[in-house]
Amino acid sequence: MTGKAHLTRRQFEKAVLTAGVAAALPGWLRASDELPADPTPYLNVTGADSLRAHATARKLLYGAAVNPALLDLEAITAGAPTNGYTQLIQSQAAIVVAENAMKWAGLRPTFDTFDFTLADRLMRFAQLAGQQVRGHNLCWHEGLPSWFKNSVTKDNARQLLVQHIQAVGGRYRGQIHSWDVVNEAVDPKDSRPDGLRNSPWLQLAGPDYIELAFHTAAQADPQAKLTYNDYGIELDTPEQSVKRGQVLLLVRRLKARGVPIHALGVQSHLQADGPQPGAGLVTLIRECAKLGLEVYVTEMDVNTHSLPGGPEAQDAAVAQVYRNYLGMVLAEPNVPVALTWGISSAHTWLNGSQEPWAKRPDGARQRPLPFDDELKPTPAFLAIRAAIDAARVSATQPAQPGAAPGDLYKPFAVPGSPNPQPAPRGPGVR
Ligand code: XIL
Repeated sequence: MTGKAHLTRRQFEKAVLTAGVAAALPGWLRASDELPADPTPYLNVTGADSLRAHATARKLLYGAAVNPALLDLEAITAGAPTNGYTQLIQSQAAIVVAENAMKWAGLRPTFDTFDFTLADRLMRFAQLAGQQVRGHNLCWHEGLPSWFKNSVTKDNARQLLVQHIQAVGGRYRGQIHSWDVVNEAVDPKDSRPDGLRNSPWLQLAGPDYIELAFHTAAQADPQAKLTYNDYGIELDTPEQSVKRGQVLLLVRRLKARGVPIHALGVQSHLQADGPQPGAGLVTLIRECAKLGLEVYVTEMDVNTHSLPGGPEAQDAAVAQVYRNYLGMVLAEPNVPVALTWGISSAHTWLNGSQEPWAKRPDGARQRPLPFDDELKPTPAFLAIRAAIDAARVSATQPAQPGAAPGDLYKPFAVPGSPNPQPAPRGPGVR
């Protein structure tokens, strides 16, 4: 590294903030104009007005999933103006996560080679921007490389998982805020008494692959908060209530067995219409607090694929969901971190997907995030910022060693949900 080509962190922050302010639209509302229905185009969103600054003032971390390939590291190190995407990530996020670059498929082109180019790029950017980094993820049934299917067997799966976690966790040891050690391991539809998804990992490595992954991650990076991350546990619908209960049983089981786990990640891919999150999720967050676990909002966005109306209707509904959801979860003292899955509709996975759950019948693009296709703030930006301002200052509850092991297996009842499943017990059930 040559000293000349690289800015110090302070120089970088100053350069980006200056560029951001220069590019921003006029500060505050223009007095001479009539007040527009949507004031967001006239807002200043950088510096002290950013989500990053507002969250930091409340001792919270706001952040976003990013594509490291789009981060203009070369311009930064040359001291040149950066692109709008880079400015937005730097100015808004205090914590970043790679949307895809740290998944198995992103890191392992072949069975025995690693390519850390994009992951390292993200780490370098975050270091220059003074941001923390979430690691996503070390073990998932998706995002696997194409060679996985024909090369991983019952004979080598456990060893491969351990080596992967040692290599990746070890490479970034001491630099990761939290690792999603295991992602989406619960699926009630697979009808196992332990609630676990019948995934390739479960089939090839056995149901205790989860414990193996957490123990290995703790050795590889003792400072990272080790997280179990899942989706479909936010709503009070019968289906999500059952899954939420099984996720809670899983984390209780892990705690009861002394597995190093520090947080639950609630992905929070929400819908603008239909049932909304409520009491069941709050109960889950409080049950986690009793176990000494933090809860992170890890992948929030608001899907409008089935919401009728134009962009204004989408924007209003999306903002309302952010307001209600973050208002609810950030009131809990063990929720110190919230990330959106992307920063703008220009790059969201919802606009990149042809799936029926992402495509709007009118063909219009979705607007699920705090910035739009032109990187201008949406009403969701204001909703997120207001929810952050209203949040309870986070103070994670200490672990409660007094909890009796029997308590850890109590059924998890949510008002209005179907009868709780009896807690799985006995030999063979982990
Ligand atoms: C998604 C990415 O956003 C897409 O670009 C990719 O094609 C598939 O994965 N839950 C997760 C994330 O944990 O890793 C997923 O990310 C979204 C759902």
